[in-house]
Amino acid sequence: MPRRTGPRARAAGVRPDPYRVWLSEIMLQQTTVAAVKSYFTAFTERWPTVTAPASARDEDVMAAWAGLGYYARARNLLKCARVVAGDYGGQFPQDHATLLTLPGVGRYTAAAVAAIAFDDPQVVVDGNVERVMARLHDEHTPLPQAKPLLTDYAAALTPPTRPGDYAQAVMDLGATICTPKRPACGLCPRRAPCAAWAAGTMAELPKKAPK
Ligand code: ADE
Repeated sequence: MPRRTGPRARAAGVRPDPYRVWLSEIMLQQTTVAAVKSYFTAFTERWPTVTAPASARDEDVMAAWAGLGYYARARNLLKCARVVAGDYGGQFPQDHATLLTLPGVGRYTAAAVAAIAFDDPQVVVDGNVERVMARLHDEHTPLPQAKPLLTDYAAALTPPTRPGDYAQAVMDLGATICTPKRPACGLCPRRAPCAAWAAGTMAELPKKAPK
């Protein structure tokens, strides 16, 4: 049976599988969606649940990762899968604080998994979200100084209902429309309230402190 995903399933309260959310977030650290896609498909076909890589041979998982780079991610992935399989009965913990204790899971990944897989209203901020917030607010404070401010903006927008879909939507907006170069403002659903659009400053934001 096909997986029940997409907007209708989401609106009906169907959440994506935490294992797949976690795996995709680990693969997407420092790697683009385009580069990750075929690895994610191959990995989840071969190891469909977290208990599968947990009992796999290290060499097999490392070989499936070959080409994605940053191999510490794959080693932590194995450790994390074994902790979830061994200590949590194969079910990912749901709360941010417990997710943070898992190998290779930092603040961003814990927030993304809690929000996207468990609909916990965590504030999920990656580079895409920072750019969207800087533009919505026409915020000219340079990065990294602007990070706390941009996180506050993101927190203020995080809704109590369907926060997981909201988190995924802002990341998708940043990845596909509110892009670093030549943003597609003509297609943007948030153009009307966008302060950078009004000021014509989209292309300059977010500002970066000179190195
Ligand atoms: N990059 C990292 N996590 C992502 C996500 N959940 N959606 C789109 N791009 C991402």
